[in-house]
Amino acid sequence: NAEKPLKGRKMLVTAGPTHEPIDPVRYIANRSSGKQGYAIAAALADLGADVVLVSGPTRLETPRGVTLKSIESAKDMLAACEAALPVDGAIFAAAVADWRVETESDQKIKKRDGQLPHLCLAENPDILATVSTLGKNRPTLVVGFAAETQAIIENGKAKLAKKGCDWILANDVGIGTGTFGGDENQIILLTDKLVEEWPKQSKEAVARTVAARIATYFQGDDV
Ligand code: PMT
Repeated sequence: NAEKPLKGRKMLVTAGPTHEPIDPVRYIANRSSGKQGYAIAAALADLGADVVLVSGPTRLETPRGVTLKSIESAKDMLAACEAALPVDGAIFAAAVADWRVETESDQKIKKRDGQLPHLCLAENPDILATVSTLGKNRPTLVVGFAAETQAIIENGKAKLAKKGCDWILANDVGIGTGTFGGDENQIILLTDKLVEEWPKQSKEAVARTVAARIATYFQGDDV
């Protein structure tokens, strides 16, 4: 089907931030709006894919034809991703918190005169690396992002190798770029064969390009 080249393909997309609880009223989070991941989920659905979107807290509407799984923490995001497997392709656009507070307090931490609370951090599971290194349940195509503020290509290539994914979409998230939360993004596609710089464009245009590349990949053509 020319218009729906991804018909019959199952895709997993992650999006948004994660919230890591400190106590009943506080959490650790980041500036991700979810726009880039939601746009990719929508573009894949437009090409006929059956899409599960695992998302942290955002203000966005679920794109038409996409199944939303809402989560808060990185641990929950990993569990929801594992529950969505097997899939043909997985795209990890979420800004997962690298650390969580080791022990969430079940009571609100009280402010005490002259005494600062000490938060002990623990490392979160790396969802992209976990899914990339699954044995027979590994998706055929695993696409990660690299959010960098310097040496974008070098750091992106290092993530491609370290995490074991097939493609990295590297983007500059430095101060003033507006990549986190804004409407535009500039991507450098990194694979083991190529380094391809895309123009700065809307997140929807980035998403359409990513979805079209994925469709080409599944049609058996090289990227
Ligand atoms: O949500 P928006 O406001 O639209 O902004 C879009 C974006 C900047 C969030 C997006 O384009 C982006 O770059 N997403 C990845 C953000 C990120 O946390 O990148 P990273 O370089 O720290 O992580 C590398 C890859 O590993 C990413 O695919 C990330 O989803 C994944 N990861 C990271 C840590 C972790 N514990 N688990 C993961 O799966």
